[in-house]
Parts: sequence; structure tokens; C-alpha cells
Amino acid sequence: MLRIVVLRLGHRPERDKRVTTHVGLVARALGAEGMLLTTEDRSVERSITEVTKRWGGDFYIQTGVKWREAIARWKQGGGKVCHLTMYGQNILDVIDEVRRTSGCIMAIVGAEKVPSGVYELADWNIAVGNQPHSEIAALAIFLDYLHQGKELRAKFRNARLEIVPQRVGKEVRVLKNE
Ligand SMILES: C[S@@+](CC[C@H](N)C(=O)[O-])C[C@H]1O[C@@H](n2cnc3c(N)ncnc32)[C@H](O)[C@@H]1O
Repeated sequence: MLRIVVLRLGHRPERDKRVTTHVGLVARALGAEGMLLTTEDRSVERSITEVTKRWGGDFYIQTGVKWREAIARWKQGGGKVCHLTMYGQNILDVIDEVRRTSGCIMAIVGAEKVPSGVYELADWNIAVGNQPHSEIAALAIFLDYLHQGKELRAKFRNARLEIVPQRVGKEVRVLKNE
């Protein structure tokens, strides 16, 4: 089982709330154990925690984290660091090596300009195609390639709500009342 944490850099509370919340939701839904945010933001913390309470799992969010310290701690624990950037090596050329090398991955995504130290500290700078797009899309594709699609069948423990997949329509099972 892979251990993955997402580090989100450069979040600006006044303009990035929605995108950062989506980064967190993608991280949770596609198999990361938690998200670290370099800026303090209680409202993003609340949104993600609320989703986890309802839909289950142990996903955590920590804000106001110092990125150099977070990277150093992760590496000291034997983890590897993948920085997602359009300037990096194409994901198709490195994903097998990443998967082979470590079961403990920190995935870094930026918002505004990413400090050059991040490129140097990363074990891999990985491009999800060498065109500019979005941190949400880059993270989703990276996690999916890393798990080879298996994360899409994950069950989340201690959920209050669970979807019963339907060909047409919606069914939600209430497992525990709030
Ligand atoms: C909207 S971009 C802005 C990047 C910023 N202009 C810079 O030069 O660092 C925000 C984040 O999306 C991610 N991103 C965007 N396009 C990407 C790509 N093609 N491959 C990997 N990550 C990408 C990166 O993590 C990036 O830091």
C-alpha cells in the first residue's frame, strides 16, 4: 500500500480557496493520506474535514506548515518527493521508476510561482505533459498513474454516507446518523 501526502504551496486565502479545496478533495478521493498547506486557512480545513466526516476515511489536513521543514521531515522518514511542474520530466518516462523506488511519496503542487529550492529538493520534477494546465488535474492524473487506477475502487472506513452506484439516478445509503 502506497503512502502519499500532498504538499500545496503558495495558497492565497483570498483567491485560491476553491482550487485548494479541490486539490484536497482529489488528494483524499484518489488515495493520499493527507494534505499539508503552507498557508494557514481554517475555512479550507473545515471544508475538507466536513467531507471526511460524512464520506469516511482518515484523511487529515494541516495548514500553516513550513515547506522546507515538511520536505526535510518526509525525507528523514525515508520518503521521496515528486514536484509536479510543467517544466519537469514527462510522467510517462518516470512513473515506473517512482513506483519502484519508494512506497512513501510526497506530491508537491504550486499555486503561484514555486520557489527554486523546491525544484532542487525534489527527487523528481514531473510534468503531466509539458503544457501549462492545473494543479487539480496534474494531481489527479499523477495519483491515478501512481496507483494504476486501483484507487478508484477504494472503500472509506467510518463513513456516514455511502453511494450505491446506479446506471441511472442517485442512491445514497445512510450508514450512521450525524
Ligand atoms: C496554475 S500553475 C502555476 C505555476 C507557476 N506559474 C509556476 O511557474 O510555477 C499551478 C500548479 O499547477 C501544476 N501544474 C500545472 N501544469 C502542470 C503540468 N503540465 N504538469 C505538472 N503540473 C502542472 C504545478 O504544480 C503548478 O505549480
